[in-house]
Amino acid sequence: MKLIKVKDYEELSKQAADYFIKKIQSSPAMIIGLATGSTPEGMYRYLVQDYQENRISFRNITTFNLDEYIGLDGSNENSYRFFMNNHLFDHIDIEKSNVHIPCGTSKDSSAECATYEQLIKAHGGIDLQLLGIGGNGHIGFNEPGSSFQSRTSIVELTDKTRRDNARFFNTFEEVPTEAITMGIATIMESKEIVLLASGEGKREAMRLLLEGRVSEDFPASYLHNHSNVTVIADEAALAGLNYSL
Ligand code: GLP
Repeated sequence: MKLIKVKDYEELSKQAADYFIKKIQSSPAMIIGLATGSTPEGMYRYLVQDYQENRISFRNITTFNLDEYIGLDGSNENSYRFFMNNHLFDHIDIEKSNVHIPCGTSKDSSAECATYEQLIKAHGGIDLQLLGIGGNGHIGFNEPGSSFQSRTSIVELTDKTRRDNARFFNTFEEVPTEAITMGIATIMESKEIVLLASGEGKREAMRLLLEGRVSEDFPASYLHNHSNVTVIADEAALAGLNYSL
């Protein structure tokens, strides 16, 4: 695991965007895994800016998002599809048919999970996966206790995650209780992974991640078993931590 330390959120966003831009320039038809949450918003802003100013093209890029809330359709502004359109896809030249996000309103969510997993396989897997990290160490929506073997599936959200994400909803009760998420095994099959962490709210998660112990209680720790992971974290997320990366 490689760690890139940056000053603050702006620098994190810029560095992450630059990292993806370089990869896209050298492989314009790559398969990218994308994440939601507040953390990648700045990176998406820089990607849009680069598209507008330098014409980096996403025309041949295919994307797979990590997860989606069950019960929210793409027109709901708290759905991850809405988030992605709003922050990225509506502002770049990506073909919408190349964009994949699990459907949260499928009549058969289990079948939706299996189809999503097959679709990733049919594309030859993900080349570069972006991750954020939950305060409890979740990646995608793989909550503590998730199996290392898990594939795209329906998961129940913990109260901690629902509370953390309640800031986007009118009330806590409105936060869905379930989601579809790529599994840990799905994520681990990505050829390369970049994880972003910003702010003191992520310090405890960074402490546990950088400590290096692999445990089901802290899903992000599985990333230590992957050979190509880069963590980009800012000073606030790393303050006071001892680590040897
Ligand atoms: C959500 C998403 C995760 C994301 C996490 C952290 O729960 N499912 O993929 O990493 O939130 O979000 P934030 O970046 O807002 O802290």
